[in-house]
Amino acid sequence: MLTPLQEMDRRHHLHPFTDHNAMHKSGTQVAVRGDGCYLIDQDNRRLLDGLAGLWCVNVGYSRKEIVDAVTAQMTQLPYYCSFFNTTTEPAIRLAAKLAELAPQRVNHSILCNSGSEANDTAIKLIWAYNKILDRPNKRKILSRTFSYHGVTVATTSMTGLPSCYLPFDLPLPGFIHVPGPYTYGANNGMTHDQYGDWCIAETERIIQHEGAETVAAMFVEPIQGAGGVIVPPDGYLTKLRALLRKYDILFVADEVISAFGRLGAWFASDMWQLDPDIITLAKGITSGYLPLGATMLSDQIVETLNRGGYLAHGYTYSSHPTPCAAALANLKIIEDERLVERTRDDTGPYFQKKLRSLIGHPAVGEVRGYQMIGAIELLPKGGRSELAKSPNTLGVKAAGIAREHGVIVRGIRDLIAMSPPLIATHEEIDELFVAIAKTLDQI
Ligand SMILES: Cc1ncc(COP(=O)(O)O)c(C=O)c1O
Repeated sequence: MLTPLQEMDRRHHLHPFTDHNAMHKSGTQVAVRGDGCYLIDQDNRRLLDGLAGLWCVNVGYSRKEIVDAVTAQMTQLPYYCSFFNTTTEPAIRLAAKLAELAPQRVNHSILCNSGSEANDTAIKLIWAYNKILDRPNKRKILSRTFSYHGVTVATTSMTGLPSCYLPFDLPLPGFIHVPGPYTYGANNGMTHDQYGDWCIAETERIIQHEGAETVAAMFVEPIQGAGGVIVPPDGYLTKLRALLRKYDILFVADEVISAFGRLGAWFASDMWQLDPDIITLAKGITSGYLPLGATMLSDQIVETLNRGGYLAHGYTYSSHPTPCAAALANLKIIEDERLVERTRDDTGPYFQKKLRSLIGHPAVGEVRGYQMIGAIELLPKGGRSELAKSPNTLGVKAAGIAREHGVIVRGIRDLIAMSPPLIATHEEIDELFVAIAKTLDQI
């Protein structure tokens, strides 16, 4: 029996990434409140949020500092744009703060509302950049299988997940997928290192086949998140970076998930010395409290773009002062509470230790992760050979069971993914893994 709210939802509300027929049979779950690492639902159940919303609520729910900053900004000036030689103080301060935190060469931000828009903006600016440099045919965009870069037409075209692009007959021409280093999925007998090297060789072969003079950029998540928490082998990203430099192809680090502490660094591309030309950001920049994305550009790209004159790009809500105020308050919490260092030195290693303790469980095919992000590949009774016969639904099934045990994780294909808030304590991480252990026993 649906509640009146669930009934209203069924009638009028289309949800993102949802099978509506399946959902409305049982009724949608209505989230009501947040408290630290916990979400409280319509039945007053406290659920430990092992995914931090959608990999974004880094500082946890109910942070008064952010609410106060947003209230103060909305009271003073709820909105103004950054078009027409105007802007607002929070937008200026946020751009400067990002430049302070980001790798050395990347000092300029154009702001937007989401990760998809940040990546979409990057594509347009890359095309404009090459046009100004008088190489208008250098336009093709590379990305990897199992990558996730968003849902606009162009970012869906980059996303390397057939379930995201096939329903829309994408990718568009000029968007090329090269193999991502998902060794477990490839299941071809190679070690992770060998498969990483094969992916690099294949990427080079594809660049040569397409003609490097037609390839503009490659978008790279340092750890592929929504595609299944794919952690590349050591050295793979360095080799990929060198390869792209060799062919004069821009390196775009999609740090929508990885920035702002999740990997124990402000920026994964700094930690792993990837020297990106462009970085795209969203999610943890406000811990999800308000929508905000950023495309950060190197000095050299901005100098070139400036030579092109008028920059005909931007959204009504680009540099909106209220999300910028939320971001500044959020970044201050991350700094004041030393959440980056805490993740690096304490909670991240603890989370990984707990994750790795599951190796050997008969329902576990592999665990992967880095600091405060992780995934468990699930196995049915009978093992991997049985998996091949099933329709890739173990992850969603396991996430449902985990929820019954009081924790939220994400089911993807035959795996579950986790990325708890960075404020999680050892006790909360223990609670998460107790529920996961029960889930594995049951599945
Ligand atoms: C790496 C990455 N890039 C881009 C996006 C798209 O961000 P948004 O959903 O804010 O458009 C996501 C979202 O999950 C992401 O994980």
